Amino acid sequence: MKKLEVPARKAMPLTTRMMLQNKAWAQSQVDRDPRFFARLADQQAPKVLWIGCSDSRVAADTITGTDPGSIFVHRNIANVVVHTDLNLLSVMKYAVDVLQVDHVIVCGHHGCGGVRAAMTDQDFGLLNEWLRHIKDGYADHFDEINAISDPRLREDRMVEVHAIRQLQKLAKTSIIQKAWATRGSPTLHAWVYDLSDGIINELLVIDSNHEMKPPYGFDFSK
Ligand code: CO
Repeated sequence: MKKLEVPARKAMPLTTRMMLQNKAWAQSQVDRDPRFFARLADQQAPKVLWIGCSDSRVAADTITGTDPGSIFVHRNIANVVVHTDLNLLSVMKYAVDVLQVDHVIVCGHHGCGGVRAAMTDQDFGLLNEWLRHIKDGYADHFDEINAISDPRLREDRMVEVHAIRQLQKLAKTSIIQKAWATRGSPTLHAWVYDLSDGIINELLVIDSNHEMKPPYGFDFSK
C-alpha cells in the first residue's frame, strides 16, 4: 500500500499573512463604524504632523492610540530635521499650509540605533553623512553628555538633546514662522518615547509667542 504523502506544513509567507490580516482589519473597522472608509476616502484632515524615527517600534498612530486619518507622518533614521531636505520640507509645507495642522511633533526615542551609532567612531559608510547631523549636536553638548557616567543614561540624554535641537531647527524655518505670523499655529512639541515602557514624555514646547533671535527671525511684512 502506498504511503500517503502529507505535504510538509509550510509557514505562511509573512506578506501573505499581512494581506490576510489587512482584510480582517478592514472588516473590523467596518463592523465598528460602517462609514469609516467612506469618510476617510473623501478627504484627510489630520491636525498633527509627526516627524519620527523610521524605527519599526515607534509607529506614530499605534503608540498614540489614534486612527488612520489623524496624523500626517514623516519618518527618517533618528528623526533628523535637515532644513535643506526637500522630502521633509515638502511634507512640512503641505501639512502646515494646506492641511493646516495645529501641532508638529518631533518624537525621538530611547534606544535609538541612529543616535547610538552617531555617538561612536564606527564607520557606517553612506550613513556617516546622515549621522553627521546628530554628531554635530553631540559635539555641541559633548561635555554635558559625557559627564553622565552610565552609558545608557548618557545615550538617553543624547536622544533627548537631539529631539530638542530638531524642534529648534523647525522653529527656524520660514514655513513655521510664516504660519505663526498668519494664523498663530502650529505649536511645536519635542517628545521622547521610551521603548522599555511605551510611555511618551514631553521635552519642549515652542508656540507662536516664541521670540526668534536674529538672524533666524523673518519679517513677513517687508
Ligand atoms: Co531611532
